[in-house]
Amino acid sequence: MTGPMPDFPAGFTWGVATSAYQIEGATTTDGRGPSIWDTFARAPGRVVDGGTGDVACDHYHRYAEDVELMAGLGVGAYRFSVAWPRVQPAGSGPANPAGLDFYDRLVDALLARDIDPVATLFHWDLPQPRQDAGGWLARDTAHRFADYADLVAARLGDRIRLWITLNEPFVHMSLGYAMGVHAPGEVRLLDAVPAAHHQLLGHGLAVAALRARTGSPIAIANNYSPVRLAGDTAADRAAARAYDALHNRLFTDPLLGRGYPADLLGPAGLLDPRALLDPGALPEPDGPLGLAGPLDPGGPAGVALVRPGDLETIAAPIDALGVNYYSPTGVRAAEAGSPLPFEPVPLGGYPTTSFGWPVAPDGLRELLTSLRDRYGDDLPPIYVTEGGCSYDDVVQPDGRCHDPERIAYLDGHLRAVRDALDDGVDVRGYFVWSLLDNFEWAEGYTKRFGLVHVDFDTQVRTPKSSYAWYRDLVRPR
Ligand code: FCB
Repeated sequence: MTGPMPDFPAGFTWGVATSAYQIEGATTTDGRGPSIWDTFARAPGRVVDGGTGDVACDHYHRYAEDVELMAGLGVGAYRFSVAWPRVQPAGSGPANPAGLDFYDRLVDALLARDIDPVATLFHWDLPQPRQDAGGWLARDTAHRFADYADLVAARLGDRIRLWITLNEPFVHMSLGYAMGVHAPGEVRLLDAVPAAHHQLLGHGLAVAALRARTGSPIAIANNYSPVRLAGDTAADRAAARAYDALHNRLFTDPLLGRGYPADLLGPAGLLDPRALLDPGALPEPDGPLGLAGPLDPGGPAGVALVRPGDLETIAAPIDALGVNYYSPTGVRAAEAGSPLPFEPVPLGGYPTTSFGWPVAPDGLRELLTSLRDRYGDDLPPIYVTEGGCSYDDVVQPDGRCHDPERIAYLDGHLRAVRDALDDGVDVRGYFVWSLLDNFEWAEGYTKRFGLVHVDFDTQVRTPKSSYAWYRDLVRPR
């Protein structure tokens, strides 16, 4: 830390973020249906210590207390997610009014405390019946997602101040469909890419559904990670480029009207990530030429993944880009014959969080400026929709919880945002991940990201020293 934090522009949005499955609990209450995370967390060995979201932070029942914690923090915005299986337990069909009632109560409580509700529509908790119908490998899921967006907007559209369609479609594709680390637990490696196209299509269709119901701005929250080269051979550089295409461009180029990145196109111009493995060696695909996509595994035989009009739907104008940033990724060339074109390597030279993630605020400035340089005038204003860190925070016998590492983390990353503003990047806000310690996916309850400590046995909330630090920062000066 180097002196007082420089000022941020007037109107800069200070917020905190959470997601439904990670905090709500009450997974069978008021008609909520099962999600892929309920199924996945129950399967032996998937989540550390067998943790599930059954209770989590019991936010479904304690939301009023949690809104008071936010009011005490003084934040102007709260990014939460709506659980699709609460709103549409079957993943299609009519709404479950009792599920929507919960978000109605939450939104009104936020507005009563002058906190802008920022709603994410999909933060990975797909209704299980949708998964049984193919999940995001099935094109139909994109259409059902837009139906669900319409149901939410019909109820909350007058009060949500910023909509976010999807959370981190890259992470959902890669950990959920490529590597099998998250729900739904599939290991398809590069063949997971239909889950990218269908999420993007779902985003575009949802934008149209939301526009029909609300005048509030609409965004998507992407995860980004600047790529660092472990070696400097031509093969390492190609590996870094391949990783960058999948992580940083696959979900942004088409959103901003550029179509799929050229590195991900096979010889006939079709979306096919096998092009990354050995450019030029791909067989001519069977699909109709001129349509960008290999065959759709969820579609009728002979139908291309990317159909006419899809890229236009995906490129529907958005009002902001959500940027989730945690750390850069080190890569090097993979061994010959590897099914992936790169191999991740640990980055040396940085302190790490309890997750082992490098603490690299320089990566955030680099990311923000490189998005501006890459997309120029096509880049809408940015909100940093997630940033934060996990440490093994403990409540001391005196009742306090000290987390100086988190304060240092946030200080460094906010200075990086400030630097990016000075570089001319239009950043409008920052949301700390997370308000509360919560269910950290495959890591269960072993990774604490909150500004507020949660005792998962008693549900007692204890604001950490980072809570007081953030409160003092966001207070109008
Ligand atoms: C992000 C997720 C969020 C949380 C943080 C630590 O990738 O969007 O739910 O798990 O990581």
